[in-house]
Amino acid sequence: MKIAIMGAMPEEIAPILEQLGEYTTTQYAGNNYYEASYKGVELVIAYSKIGKVFSTLTSATMIEHFGAQKLLFSGVAGAISPTLKVGDLLVATKLSQHDLDITAFGHPFGYVPEGAVYVEADRELITLSQKVALSMNKTLQEGIIATGDQFVANEERKNWIGTTFGADALEMEGASVAVVCDALNVPFFILRAISDAADMDASFSFDAFLETSAKESAAFVMKMVDAIIEQNV
Ligand code: ADE
Repeated sequence: MKIAIMGAMPEEIAPILEQLGEYTTTQYAGNNYYEASYKGVELVIAYSKIGKVFSTLTSATMIEHFGAQKLLFSGVAGAISPTLKVGDLLVATKLSQHDLDITAFGHPFGYVPEGAVYVEADRELITLSQKVALSMNKTLQEGIIATGDQFVANEERKNWIGTTFGADALEMEGASVAVVCDALNVPFFILRAISDAADMDASFSFDAFLETSAKESAAFVMKMVDAIIEQNV
C-alpha cells in the first residue's frame, strides 16, 4: 500500500519528515517528493506550494506518477465557525471552491457544468479519524471546508463564504485535492488545524500559529497512518 501525505507549505510537512528521519528525495514536475517505508507501507510526502493550481498538480502527481492509493492532507485553515479556535482540529466532510463563479449563467457558486458544488471526503477515513481522536484524547470537529485562491482576512468575505457554502473553515487547497482524488477514485482525508479566524487579524494570527497548528495537524495525520496500517483500512 502506498499512502500520500500532502501539505501546501514546508511547515506543514516538516514535522512528518522529522518523525520519519530517513527518506529519499525525488525531483519531479518542479517539486520535491519524499519517499519512505514506514511500518510496512510506502509513504510519499510533498508540499505543493499554496493554492488550487499547485495542489492539483501535486495531488495528481502523487497518484498518477508515484502510485499513491490513499491521500491524507495535513495543514492549517482559517476558522469560520465560532466553535473553532486556534489549534482546534477540523476534518472535512465535503469541500467546495468558494471562488468558482459562473453565476452569470444561472449556476450556483462553486459549480461548473459536469462538476459538483461539493466533493465528499471518504467516510471510512473520517470514521477512523474519530477513533484516532478518541485514542489521543482530542476533539476532532467535522465540517465543510471552502477553498479558494485567496488568503481571507476580511470578516465580510468570510461570512459570505460561511453563508453561501455552509462552510466551517476556509483554506486554499482542499477542494482542488478533493476534485483530483474523487476523479481518480483515491480515498482522501483533509485535516486542518486552525491558525486564524479569517478576519482583520488573520495574517498576524497565521504567522504566529502556522508552525504550532501545522504540528498539531501533522501529529494527528501520522496517527491516522498508524491506524490505517493497524486496522487494515
Ligand atoms: N489558511 C489558513 N488561514 C487562511 C485564511 N485566512 N485564508 C485562506 N487560507 C488560509
